Amino acid sequence: MGKLRVGVAGLGTVGAGLVKLFADPRSRLNEKLELVAVSARDRARARGVDVSRYRWFDDAVEMAASPDVDVVVELIGGADGTAKAMVEAALKRGANVVTANKALVATHGVALIQMAEASGAKLLFEAAVGGGVPMVKALKESVAGCRADAVTGILNGTCNYILTEMETSGRSFGDVLREAQQMGYAEADPTTDVGGFDAAHKLAILCAIAFGARPDLEHVRIEGIERVTLTDIRLAGKLGFRIKLIAKGASTDGGVEMHVRPALLAFDHPLANIGGSLNALVVDAEPVGQLTFIGRGAGEGPTASSVASDLMDIAEDRASAAFGKPLALLADAPRAAPPERGRYYLRFLVGDRPGVVAAISERLAHEDISIESFLQMPVHEGPAVPIVLTTQACARAAVERAVKAIEALEVVTEPPYVMPVEPSARGWRAN
Ligand SMILES: NC(=O)c1ccc[n+]([C@@H]2O[C@H](COP(=O)([O-])OP(=O)(O)OC[C@H]3O[C@@H](n4cnc5c(N)ncnc54)[C@H](OP(=O)(O)O)[C@@H]3O)[C@@H](O)[C@H]2O)c1
Repeated sequence: MGKLRVGVAGLGTVGAGLVKLFADPRSRLNEKLELVAVSARDRARARGVDVSRYRWFDDAVEMAASPDVDVVVELIGGADGTAKAMVEAALKRGANVVTANKALVATHGVALIQMAEASGAKLLFEAAVGGGVPMVKALKESVAGCRADAVTGILNGTCNYILTEMETSGRSFGDVLREAQQMGYAEADPTTDVGGFDAAHKLAILCAIAFGARPDLEHVRIEGIERVTLTDIRLAGKLGFRIKLIAKGASTDGGVEMHVRPALLAFDHPLANIGGSLNALVVDAEPVGQLTFIGRGAGEGPTASSVASDLMDIAEDRASAAFGKPLALLADAPRAAPPERGRYYLRFLVGDRPGVVAAISERLAHEDISIESFLQMPVHEGPAVPIVLTTQACARAAVERAVKAIEALEVVTEPPYVMPVEPSARGWRAN
């Protein structure tokens, strides 16, 4: 049998990285595959790699529909538009598709797999989650025979970079974000990243595979890192914690619970030392126990290598079902409530007056919430001073009521900020 003919649409960071890998004589890609066609918007653009020897398509959908292309690679991005149209065109005619597009897979995964199953095509997307880290494969294959209980990840490199830089350089969220934008680490409109939406796309995909359920982006509770201040990072550090944007999914008796939000991690938590643009995933599964996967979550090389790995699976005829099993076998898992009990970090900004601490403690005690650690720093944020504390394990509803009561105090100058403390022992129910 001849080599599989590959067409790549999108020649930006990831696409150019893939073309370079095809051009590397020591890559195994060329043993069974051959890059024959490319597509992007601007044919004249320099891409750091020669694309002139491949057939050029101005229209990516036309390339996806071409009978001269056996495997279609979509590296354009976006949940809709050309990316979706070209993937549909390929799947409808039975051509296998590889994509790095988490927005597309998280939003339209079910419909796309229906098309793939109808035509007998495969849809693979290792690069869509965790860049170069083989998270999809680990869940689909390595723990396939286990019962997955939880996946907990650092899935957005931009947020992780910002939080790490704030901690190490002592600069504010705004300053670090501006610098990240200038250096090309963050988008001009950073909402998708800092708002937690990118991590939510990835989490929805991982949970579908881990828990054998249909991808369910709408049920991810999402909170970004915009409210995390330098004070939070410093004071949490003094209390023995690091702040990370955590994407977590858990399979419980009541269904699947998924959330993306900043959380405090004790320094010995497996994710606490994942710095900069690294990504990581902790999988809790029985009977294997806890597994941790770490690596570069973005960038040309790591992401192209995940795309290449999917291409090799297709070439060597070992590509598995998109979410690990056929669509008909994926459950419609109900949305579970977040855990009822946990430990929390609370930050209040208050007027610098006597009696404030007593007033806060009183309202916490009224809700039966015990304080685990407490810090009042002599740093002023405008006319106010921050007070932060962590609670012992307590009821989530009680914390919500106490925080509301404290917010109503006249001395409290802005809405309190609450973050969960991640359980440090292994397992979702470790608290
Ligand atoms: N960058 C990463 O580290 C990374 C990591 C994981 C996953 N991903 C995912 O990989 C995908 C690609 O990301 P990227 O960072 O490589 O994006 P990028 O650098 O912005 O490149 C996008 C490419 O798509 C091309 N394009 C845009 N509209 C097109 C259209 N209508 N028809 C044909 N081509 C079109 C652009 O063409 P021109 O160059 O001519 O403008 C460009 O080459 C996205 O889904 C992203 O989420 C990226």
